[in-house]
This record gives sequence, C-alpha cells and structure tokens, in this order.
Amino acid sequence: MSSKSTYTPVRSGKSDAILDWLQMFSGVALIIFVFMHMSLVSSVIFSPDIMDNIAATYEKNYMAQIGGPLLFLLFLFHFYLAARKIPFRLEGQKTIWKHAKMLKHRDTWLWVVQVVSAMLILVMGAIHMWSVLSDLPISAARSAERIQSGPWIYFYLVLAPLVVLHVVAGLYRIAVKWGFVKAYQRGRLNKFATGLALFFICIGLATLVRFMTMSA
Ligand code: HEM
Repeated sequence: MSSKSTYTPVRSGKSDAILDWLQMFSGVALIIFVFMHMSLVSSVIFSPDIMDNIAATYEKNYMAQIGGPLLFLLFLFHFYLAARKIPFRLEGQKTIWKHAKMLKHRDTWLWVVQVVSAMLILVMGAIHMWSVLSDLPISAARSAERIQSGPWIYFYLVLAPLVVLHVVAGLYRIAVKWGFVKAYQRGRLNKFATGLALFFICIGLATLVRFMTMSA
C-alpha cells in the first residue's frame, strides 16, 4: 500500500491570529469611542451650551467631517473581522442555539447577545451616523429637534442600551479571552461589567430625557 500522504496543509493559524488581534484592537478603539461619545453627548444634561461648545471644537478641528467617515470605516472593518466567526447559514445558527441551550454557560449566551446586537448596531449605527453627519453642524437644539420628531426617540431607546450591552460584553470577553483576567477573578469582572453597563444605560436614558424635554 502506498504510504504517500493525502494531507494538504491548511491555511496557517498565523493569519487568523493577526485577524484576531486586529479584531481586538478595533473593538477596543470602538469601546473607547462609545464611552467618550456617550459621556460628551450627555453634557447636554448640564447645559446645551456645553454640548454646543464641544461640538464646535470638534468641527473646527474637522473631527466630525473627517473623523466621522474614518470612524465609519473602522466600524465596518470591525464588523468584517467579527463576521468571520458569525454563522450566517441557518444550520450554523441552529447549532449555536442548541449548544448555548445545552451548555447553559453564561459566556456562551454572552456571545449570542453580542452577535445579535452587532447585526442591529451595524444597521442602526450606520443610519445614525448618516443622519447626523449629513446635517452638520451638530448642536443641542438640532439634536433635540431630531429626537422629538418622528420615531427617532424609539430608535435611540433601542440603540443606546444595545450599544452599551454590546461594548460591555465585548470588554468582558476581551478581558477573559486574552487572559487579562484569570478564571478566579471572573466573578469580580462580572460585577464590574454589570455596574458599568447600568451606569452607561442610565447616562444614555438621562440624555434622551433631556433632549425630549428641551425646547427645540
Ligand atoms: C462620528 C460619528 C458620530 C457622530 C458625529 C455622532 C453624533 C451624535 C449626536 C449629535 C447625537 C445626539 C442625538 C442626535 O443628534 O441625533 C448622538 C447620539 C447618540 N449616538 Fe452618536 N454619533 C456618532 C457615532 C455613533 C456611533 C458609532 C454610535 C454607536 C453605534 C453612536 C451612538 C449614539 C447613541 C446611542 C446616541 C443617543 C444618545 C444617548 O442616549 O447617549 N453614535 N450622536
């Protein structure tokens, strides 16, 4: 019998590792952006003038005009990298669902939450960025006018908690996957992540209440 091997080498794991690193770095950049963005927009709670001044400074330095589209590219790049591991076919989705139910493991569910929220954020984030960037300059009064008109408030009531859940789940998964937090520290990390999520959900909702009650 011939001993000739029929083994064909598969793609080396190196390129996958590089893509995993890029996914983590783009994710961390987006997490920092979301926390900063929600904090800066929440300045409207204290005074619309503060929000207007921040927006004016950003636009004077072209951070909205150039930074906005660049951020959108980063947003797409991160989704493209993450999409490598998302099952788009029905059989794959059924298998993941079955495993998540079978394993009853919180971190597996967290992954399911992250994938579902990612799909919605991709569409809603793109709509949001388009509506803001195509209507510059940014001002508290314009934002209030938008949020008080049509279905925008419902849109933001879904987007704000969804984004927070997605980024906090991402932060948790990065800390665990890359070994920044050891197995015995997971309980504390879980408490921290829950607190962080609740904090930013409250900030997001308070910002929306402020926009709704402002005279536009
Ligand atoms: C450069 C890009 C971006 C700009 C210039 C921008 C600007 C703004 C502005 C002006 C508002 C006030 C509401 C309005 O005017 O409609 C707002 C709200 C909001 N933005 Fe963005 N945004 C950007 C990207 C993003 C991204 C990528 C996300 C997440 C996917 C996001 C999530 C939100 C949320 C959730 C709110 C509601 C306010 C809250 O509840 O905290 N934004 N943004």
